[in-house]
Amino acid sequence: MAATTFSNSHANGPSSSAPDAAEIRRRVHHDADVVIVGAGVLGCALAATLGRQGRSVLLLEASLKEPDRIVGELLQPGGVEALEKLGLRDCLEGIDAILTEGYYVAYLGEPVTIPYPAQSPGAPLPEGRSFHHGRFVMKLREAAGACPNVTIVETKVTDLITCSHTKQVLGVKSVTKEAKDCYFGQLTVVADGYASKFRKQYHPHTPKVRSKFWGLELIDAELPQPHYGHVLLNPNSPPVLVYQIGARETRILCDIPENLPSASVKNGGVKGHLRNTVLPSLPKCIQPSFAAALDRGQLRSMPNSFLASSTNKTPGLIMLGDALNMRHPLTGGGMTVALNDVVILRDLLSPEQVPKFSNTALVLKQLSVFHWRRKMGASVINILAQALYSLFAADDVNLRALQRGCFQYFQIGMHRQPVSMLGGMLKKPQILFAHFFTVAFLSLWMILRESPLYKLPVTLVRCALVFWAACVVIIPYMVTEAFC
Ligand SMILES: Cc1cc2nc3c(=O)[nH]c(=O)nc-3n(C[C@H](O)[C@H](O)[C@H](O)COP(=O)(O)OP(=O)(O)OC[C@H]3O[C@@H](n4cnc5c(N)ncnc54)[C@H](O)[C@@H]3O)c2cc1C
Ligand SMILES: *[C@@H]1O[C@H](CO)[C@@H](O)[C@H](O)[C@H]1NC(C)=O
Repeated sequence: MAATTFSNSHANGPSSSAPDAAEIRRRVHHDADVVIVGAGVLGCALAATLGRQGRSVLLLEASLKEPDRIVGELLQPGGVEALEKLGLRDCLEGIDAILTEGYYVAYLGEPVTIPYPAQSPGAPLPEGRSFHHGRFVMKLREAAGACPNVTIVETKVTDLITCSHTKQVLGVKSVTKEAKDCYFGQLTVVADGYASKFRKQYHPHTPKVRSKFWGLELIDAELPQPHYGHVLLNPNSPPVLVYQIGARETRILCDIPENLPSASVKNGGVKGHLRNTVLPSLPKCIQPSFAAALDRGQLRSMPNSFLASSTNKTPGLIMLGDALNMRHPLTGGGMTVALNDVVILRDLLSPEQVPKFSNTALVLKQLSVFHWRRKMGASVINILAQALYSLFAADDVNLRALQRGCFQYFQIGMHRQPVSMLGGMLKKPQILFAHFFTVAFLSLWMILRESPLYKLPVTLVRCALVFWAACVVIIPYMVTEAFC
């Protein structure tokens, strides 16, 4: 087999002449072009992509068993598109995935159906997919493992190995079946998920958690609008998401903020909230399967975090996926952001752009391009998730006015662009900004219209407070995304 110009030739080692030699280097010497920590959504997609570009890849994963989690179960059309670009679309086949065509949003039981719109005249309707997270990840692992340039190893990474004077990351220490181990790469990618072990040291921000999602699996639930993600809103209770994830299974996620009165110990805790507040508020057709799931009692929870991204400045290192950047999962955007990041990196780190990952200065330069290029798409998804969450979980009277305005906005049909942004298809932050403030002004108009004229001074003060609340919701996130 012919040697390629870009692979496996290490500055301090013999140049390998065939892929087999690279495979031996990985297996025997634990040495590769790139070491990826975490075979989750991001790690697998990146391993397959870099491997197909001819890089020698070590993909390290703490547990190769099928993950059983309540996260990453709905992939937006923008994520499906990214999979397609990566040549990984077939990972959605054979996992009993459900087609998703849009959102069904109900406010106080009154629904609006919001389909994903075609992105240009005559274009096919965008498609999302929902599924069991673990089945999708197993398919991604299979795709990565099928590439001869990728070796997957079950090992738990414990530390990064750094050069004491240059601070360059050289690889990782790990534990394999209780034995100490290490792996070396010209580049180390940290993609170890939301609870990243390495973030503290290499990421300037820390995740902020305002609420948790509590999840149950419903069996044979009847949904008001099959093939749609359901967002159920009530003015006095945080949002509830419902979507089918398999032929018989449906996921329900109930958001519970810290210190929610209806989930206090006195009121029976989380179970009390689910039984007394959520159950009666659900559409009648979902109630029986929800009550049955509550009785089975397999409740699970996950923190809902926000984490602003940041440019990596450490030579030899890249942080990606949830380790780098998180947003509230209300809009199901995490995997879409992760897969789009892989698409962007595929181009920025291609062998044509960066012949060798050992050129750390060039890699760092490409990473700073990456930081800004990814923002177009990621910041729309991030800000939208955070802003919608603030409105949907409205915990004061001003936010509730905005919540009502937002729902009214959808009801009058203004949902084409918002749902395109949510679906990861429309990547224009300025459009998000315009919609958000239109919602704010609509909310003010609704207040003005309902108040008698003699109360005008009071009403105007009320409007100012609502407008201020809108600014407080969105401007901090806008600033973070635009400047950090
Ligand atoms: C409640 C909830 C619901 C969500 N729902 C959706 C949704 O519907 N749609 C969506 O797109 N996104 C959703 N997300 C977000 C989505 O789950 C994440 O954005 C996505 O999984 C991130 O992928 P990742 O590869 O960065 O991390 P993960 O998928 O978490 O993968 C990390 C991997 O690293 C491994 N690992 C960790 N530590 C080590 C170690 N020390 N050594 C070796 N391996 C290690 C883990 O075992 C894991 O396999 C949700 C998030 C939450 C919290
Ligand atoms: C593996 O890498 C080699 C170069 O080292 C490349 O020629 C080959 O196409 C890669 N294999 C696959 C399946 O992508």
